Amino acid sequence: MSGLSAPSGQPLIIDDAEAGVFRVNRAAYASEEVFEREQRALYDHCWLLLGHESEISRPGDFKTRTIALRPIILCRGDDGRVRAFINSCPHRGAELCRETEGNRSIFHCMYHSWTFRNTGEVHTVRAEEGYTGGFRREDFHLKQVPRLESYREFVFICFDPDAPDLVTYLGNAARYLDYLADQGGDGMEIVEGTQLYAARANWKLQMENVIDFYHTVPLHTSYFRFLESTGADISSGVGGAGYDLGNGHSAVHFKAGWGRPVARWEPRWGEAEKHRLEALRADIEARVGPQRAEMICDWDRNILVFPNLTVADVVALVVRVVNPIAPGMMEITQWCLAPKGEPEEARSRRLHAFNTFLGPGGFATPDDIEVFEGSQRAFGAHRELAWSDFSRGYHGEATRPETEVRSDYEGQTRAFYREWAARMGAIVSHRVDGALPREAAAE
Ligand code: FES
Ligand code: FE
Repeated sequence: MSGLSAPSGQPLIIDDAEAGVFRVNRAAYASEEVFEREQRALYDHCWLLLGHESEISRPGDFKTRTIALRPIILCRGDDGRVRAFINSCPHRGAELCRETEGNRSIFHCMYHSWTFRNTGEVHTVRAEEGYTGGFRREDFHLKQVPRLESYREFVFICFDPDAPDLVTYLGNAARYLDYLADQGGDGMEIVEGTQLYAARANWKLQMENVIDFYHTVPLHTSYFRFLESTGADISSGVGGAGYDLGNGHSAVHFKAGWGRPVARWEPRWGEAEKHRLEALRADIEARVGPQRAEMICDWDRNILVFPNLTVADVVALVVRVVNPIAPGMMEITQWCLAPKGEPEEARSRRLHAFNTFLGPGGFATPDDIEVFEGSQRAFGAHRELAWSDFSRGYHGEATRPETEVRSDYEGQTRAFYREWAARMGAIVSHRVDGALPREAAAE
């Protein structure tokens, strides 16, 4: 066998179309070797969300973030251009910018006091006369991330200089970013403030979870009880359909009975809000046409952009980046996205929903993290209990127009893992009874 297997010698995936069985080996969540391969095979080549242009709207605005284990400065230069620099002094490596955000024309390194322009050039070298011979200033400009492109103001970076362009990479997922970007007539903005939290669990558990309908009702009972207490009609549940969008991207669509800040009114919001939402809907329809307007206004959805971006477009709009730190540790950064110029009352209802449902102290996230961390502890026993199952609806997938594949069950998760396996060079067994290596199976 060639390719990456579990330490036990078993394949990492079972994808048996005949039997309708799809399983992921739990070593995929626990093995150091798998984690290291993910960094090289996925995170060195995929486009990764770094931020949103609204976060750095003025020249000199910057944010510092860690993406794919690299410290990054996202910055709008004095020339108006958006750039991403490695946040490390080219002199000897000190962390150049130690704040999380701000506005600066010049970055000053605390170690030996060199300075750099926000467009990347080295500005001053202290006691420069001491350097002779081969010292060239241009060798010490800030190091830019090889690729940076924006789509509808979402700023992505890529560490592979030869990667396909962002729009090609996004494929069908681009339309789903349009559904977000078109919600505001005057554009969208990240609401000030970032939620940053960690879980002692593998990053893929969070990716699976965001496109998993199966757990919502059984796990998040306290949230549903809370919603009932506010007068929301939740009798329709949260069932829907999943879509494999290609390239590992996916989405789940549903109509949850808890209102939607984009034009789906709830009686408890009052008559004035009803009229405002009707006008908003008319505006969206005029801009994007009735078909897209229906998608934007009437449907809730969660989106997964491979490998580590999710957007919950529900009671609030939650943009979430999942950063793998170690096999059993992830960091999550999330922001609330909202239409520019939204009235104060609607904005405060949106932020309330953002915090109460998907915030780290909300109703849903702690439930999910409790499960992730418990699962991760159990994955220490991956040699004894090897397989997690994603077989629901294997034979129920049907092709739709626009190259999407619809599934009422877990096809979207299988799509994620098929892309993962292909990029990782992971061993996939296409027969469930062939999943054990010959010697082990014979025992
Ligand atoms: Fe920054 Fe020396 S490490 S000036
Ligand atoms: Fe959940």
